Amino acid sequence: MKKKITIGLGCLFLLALAACTEKSQSTDKKLETHVENLLAQMTLEEKIGQMNQISPWGEPTQIAEAVRKGEVGSILNVVDPVAINALQQVAMEESRLKIPLIIGRDVIHGFKTIFPIPLGQAASFDPQLVEAGARVAAIEAASVGVAWTFAPMIDIARDPRWGRIAESLGEDSYLTATLGAAMIRGFQGSDLSDPTAIAACPKHFVGYGAAEGGRDYASTFIPERTLRNVYLPPFEAAVREGAATFMTSFNDNDGVPSTGNRFILEQVLRKEWAFDGFVVSDWASVAEMIAHGFCKDGKEAAEKAVNAGVDMEMVSGLYVAHVKELLAEGKIRMETIDNAVRNILRVKFRLGLFEQSHIDTEAPSVFYAEAHLAKAKEAAVASAILLKNEGDFLPLTDQIKTIAVVGPMADAPHDQLGTWVFDGDKNYTRTPLKALQEEYGDRIRILYAPGTAYSRDRATDGIAAAVAIARQADVVLAFVGEEAILSGEAHSLADLNLQGAQSELIAAVAKTGTPVVTLVMAGRPLTIERDAEASRAVMYHFHPGTMGGPAIADLLFGKAVPGGKLPVTFPRTVGQIPIYHSHNNTGRPYQGNETLLDGIALEAGQTSLGNTSFYLDAGNDPLYPFGYGLSYTTFEYGNLSISADRLRPTDELTVTFEVTNTGKYDATEVAQLYVQDCFGSVTRPVKELKRFARVALKAGEKKTVSFTLPVQELAFYTIDMQKKVEPGDFNLWVGPNSRDGLQTTFVVE
Ligand code: BGC
Repeated sequence: MKKKITIGLGCLFLLALAACTEKSQSTDKKLETHVENLLAQMTLEEKIGQMNQISPWGEPTQIAEAVRKGEVGSILNVVDPVAINALQQVAMEESRLKIPLIIGRDVIHGFKTIFPIPLGQAASFDPQLVEAGARVAAIEAASVGVAWTFAPMIDIARDPRWGRIAESLGEDSYLTATLGAAMIRGFQGSDLSDPTAIAACPKHFVGYGAAEGGRDYASTFIPERTLRNVYLPPFEAAVREGAATFMTSFNDNDGVPSTGNRFILEQVLRKEWAFDGFVVSDWASVAEMIAHGFCKDGKEAAEKAVNAGVDMEMVSGLYVAHVKELLAEGKIRMETIDNAVRNILRVKFRLGLFEQSHIDTEAPSVFYAEAHLAKAKEAAVASAILLKNEGDFLPLTDQIKTIAVVGPMADAPHDQLGTWVFDGDKNYTRTPLKALQEEYGDRIRILYAPGTAYSRDRATDGIAAAVAIARQADVVLAFVGEEAILSGEAHSLADLNLQGAQSELIAAVAKTGTPVVTLVMAGRPLTIERDAEASRAVMYHFHPGTMGGPAIADLLFGKAVPGGKLPVTFPRTVGQIPIYHSHNNTGRPYQGNETLLDGIALEAGQTSLGNTSFYLDAGNDPLYPFGYGLSYTTFEYGNLSISADRLRPTDELTVTFEVTNTGKYDATEVAQLYVQDCFGSVTRPVKELKRFARVALKAGEKKTVSFTLPVQELAFYTIDMQKKVEPGDFNLWVGPNSRDGLQTTFVVE
């Protein structure tokens, strides 16, 4: 006792930390001993079985037999707890070595209670909320025996034509790394062996989001420097956060499919980052290396995948078919197989599956628990982005007596859930129409005429009815956007205007003179310039999930204040893509005052002098920049100061500034810090997000915000491919988005 008093609090803390580290080391040692003991008893067939993941096929008895024989290590897409218990029972009681299965499922933005799609969650810029959403998803999924989710998707997505942008956390590497790590914390909880924890699987490793032309599965061409500076950091952060597994991507990068890419799997993931979980292929991506033209048959595909470091194969069955023979031929080494199995068993032990793989099917259901729905609503509110609010038209006041609700997304319980909803039930969805009727129907006349039946509907005969109710109303609420099936995997688009007759619908109701508020629910940024022009206000909701309706009702009437910011740049037109805030400069940078198409004189003579890099017909400015989003209040930034204007690479820079709520509503502002490294041994982005913070401010309140930025975070892969901070001049901005803000400069010596 005396001893403790004399060493003081700080030391006590250090001692506790040391004890903790010791404990985790000894647990690890114990775990590794379990792994080795088990491995030593396994036949080659049982090892290959662990490396095999199946999706249910044939009769349940056939699957049970394969599990009994130790031919299966994992099953995906079984969610019935009775079926899972039965399979685990076969694995744990009837198979020779009693190794549990790991049951996987795509739990992407909720299991039953559906949260906004990941792109929407990213708009909250709120790691705590994103973590809480993943926690809810894990609790619900784990309750049926799912132990592993194929999420988060942390592919950098800079092309809204790509349907899977919906599943991403947007275009920015730092935001994606931060929120991806938060999701991993939420899924995995504080300890993987907790019964409510599920293993995360950051995906798709790597580069998948850079698909040429935004066409899903297309080739990518990301050079190593860009890979390391932009695409890899979120995955490195995921390893640091303790992600249990990784998934390879479908694409070939510069000619090498990820599933056969030793450089990313062996060099980067294992050697540089010391990842000790397991790597799974994407669905049949081992077999798909044949279609890529990278392997001539299934046998060569298995050889390349195993040797690259893909520990478990998802559904192609090529490991089971060929690994034994490849080993006999000396094309795969026993050590490689053993390491793959070690990685898989390690995760199964960490998950506590050997102790508790049985689900209590009599336990009360946790699906759609009140607390889960409340979190989903909070996330839907925080994800809403106010893009336009002419004359402070929103929030709606009690002057509003009649509302005309139009548009195909006003009452679309399936579609507002978004992509990747395998388990959520649309009967639990609260749509905006129903929420408005329930909450305001007694005070406000709510008229409803969808105008078009669904987002792709080209029929215009319903528009007259929408116009008729618009004439009787004080405001039109136009709910437009995309059906869930128009985004997500394999659902890329070449045209990003509103589909079907939706723009005609907005134009027609706007023509009545009744003010129009356009509310977009979509899986991606859409090119809505003309629709925004016709509207007094525009609020954007990346598919908002189960509780989208009540969230929108609260936002419209000012019970909640929008504070979401764009996690991705909105182009004016598809031809501007790729368009993202952290691009490099050309030698002739766009100035913003260039003469566009209509300003050019007839028969003007050709000149290249004084020209810049831009589109004649669209300019280079986006419709809305990255980080943009309005509020019902206004914020002012002031008094920017930095701790030093000359720094050494080992220093920390402290950036301080004030944010004042100059409007009438209590609200939260997402303050953002950007940096530009002005001159480098290679060209550097014009701006990079380095920090953000949610700042809650009462009306009239002022707060001082402070960011600490170690100079080491300005390091990048230089001309000699070393990660270094290069001395030189830097620009720094703080502000409400990637375009506006206060600027200062500093020098790194
Ligand atoms: C997708 C993955 C997903 C897997 C399993 C694939 O088609 O690319 O993201 O996890 O299927 O459903």
